[in-house]
Amino acid sequence: YQVPLPQNEPVLNYAPGSNETINVKKAIEELRSRTVEVPMYIGNDEVFTNKKIKLSPPHDHQHVLGYASEGDASHVSAAIDAALEARKNWANLPWNERAAVFLKAADLLAGPYRAKINAATMLGQSKNAFQAEIDAACELIDFLRFNVAFYQEIMAEQPLSSKGVWNKLEYRPLEGFVFALTPFNFTAIAGNLPASAALMGNVCVWKPAYTQIYSANVIMEVFKLAGLPDGVINMIYVDGPVTGEVVFNHADFAGIHFTGSTGVFQNIWKTIGGNIHKYKSYPRIVGETGGKDFVIAHKSADAKAVAVGLVRGAFEYQGQKCSAASRAYIPSNIWEDVKKYMLADLREIKMGPTEDFSNFINAVIDEKAFDKISGYISAAKNDPNVEIIAGGGFDKSVGYFIEPTVILTRDPKYKTMCEEIFGPVLSIYVYDENAWVETLELVNTTSPYALTGAVFSQDRYAIDQATKALENAAGNFYINDKPTGAVVGQQPFGGARASGTNDKAGSKLNLLRWVNARTIKETF
Ligand code: NAD
Ligand code: ALA
Repeated sequence: YQVPLPQNEPVLNYAPGSNETINVKKAIEELRSRTVEVPMYIGNDEVFTNKKIKLSPPHDHQHVLGYASEGDASHVSAAIDAALEARKNWANLPWNERAAVFLKAADLLAGPYRAKINAATMLGQSKNAFQAEIDAACELIDFLRFNVAFYQEIMAEQPLSSKGVWNKLEYRPLEGFVFALTPFNFTAIAGNLPASAALMGNVCVWKPAYTQIYSANVIMEVFKLAGLPDGVINMIYVDGPVTGEVVFNHADFAGIHFTGSTGVFQNIWKTIGGNIHKYKSYPRIVGETGGKDFVIAHKSADAKAVAVGLVRGAFEYQGQKCSAASRAYIPSNIWEDVKKYMLADLREIKMGPTEDFSNFINAVIDEKAFDKISGYISAAKNDPNVEIIAGGGFDKSVGYFIEPTVILTRDPKYKTMCEEIFGPVLSIYVYDENAWVETLELVNTTSPYALTGAVFSQDRYAIDQATKALENAAGNFYINDKPTGAVVGQQPFGGARASGTNDKAGSKLNLLRWVNARTIKETF
């Protein structure tokens, strides 16, 4: 079975009156008009409980989209049992039969389910139509298709044989189950973490973030329609620490595929380390975690390009991308121009619910995020050493709305330059245009994270200097572009330092973590 090299799924533009706009508006209306009961999926059971998690749009928190059934430790155990039972057949299927399920799922998402997955992401996670399209549709479709192509390349990598000897490398699934623990901010990442491990023959327990359950439920619907056998991916909604207590004490725990915050991942790692003697194998620990992503401009940079990069990079999806620009270093010679273009651009930006397609900014994910982000803004308002030059307003009466906010600081180590805020807050430090080398050092040492970063410059030598000086400061490094928007197959994504194990989602590097390779030598 030769799978053709995939093309990236074309991004639809959601122009007013376009077919895609009409379709997604219809899907939004349809979803808003009913209250869905979301079960947990354990083996062949759809499990409903009396404990309900309310699902609401972050931009309209009094509206009820539905309720998900929350489980307890017994559901975690049941999900593990169901996964291990399903493993007996799934792990032994020919690879192309597993691949067919995910290729079919990609086709369903590209076609009949595109409007629904986008509408669910727009309502449940408050993404505008374009942000939903590049995530829930295109990136998820790309993950599913490219993973299959990469799987095929992996299998083709074989050792040499010699006269009278056959050598073979067999790529087997891990012995046990994989735990997929996923974040709210990308529907694509949430779907890919269990799907990539399952493609390689593994069985999974998937616990999505509670704030992403609404679109996760559509992903499960698509996987099932594509023919995913019961028990291969079991989706449960159980409190994180309760889930962890069962999963990380289980002898068959074979690996975790995590994306989320650094603190949660570090605690998980410690727990796994403490339990290491309990497991049959050393579990694979794959985690993509937090960031404090930078933009540094050189004195040769084009001021307009820098401004566009800052506004798009910092404020798309309300700054809740792991890759979002959140600290910027701008040289004094271009600062006034950068500021002028940036403020002009920000004045054009509209904020409001996702149902109105002209809104670029929607709500942040929940009240906890709102309180945390607005807390940083309030502290900045009261600090004489910093100045808020754009935005600064917030209101949670209807939805969790926070204006795109720009903080100018004279202190390059001010807390909003160092800590992950995960919201629409950009901090800017203006440096002496002649202090380029010192500023590169500042960028490199200010934060423990190393997820994404960007340099803007029209000077080749300066670009080369930045690329070398910041070699460990970003797993994804952009030259003259914003630091967000990595495309599967083009910019493999993942960070270093405190930003993750850098196993590059949607690449061979990642898929290789989900196999147990066996070398077979036959002499004849
Ligand atoms: P989070 O860490 O709060 O949650 C991630 C998952 O872990 C969720 O399913 C959550 O329910 C679960 N969880 C939380 N606490 C737990 C605990 N004590 N025990 C077990 N499970 C627990 O992250 P989030 O708010 O959903 O996502 C935002 C974070 O994810 C940001 O830090 C962002 O930078 C990061 N992120 C990183 C990448 C990347 O590729 N590096 C991509 C997306 C998001
Ligand atoms: N693909 C996402 C981005 O790069 C993670 O923003």
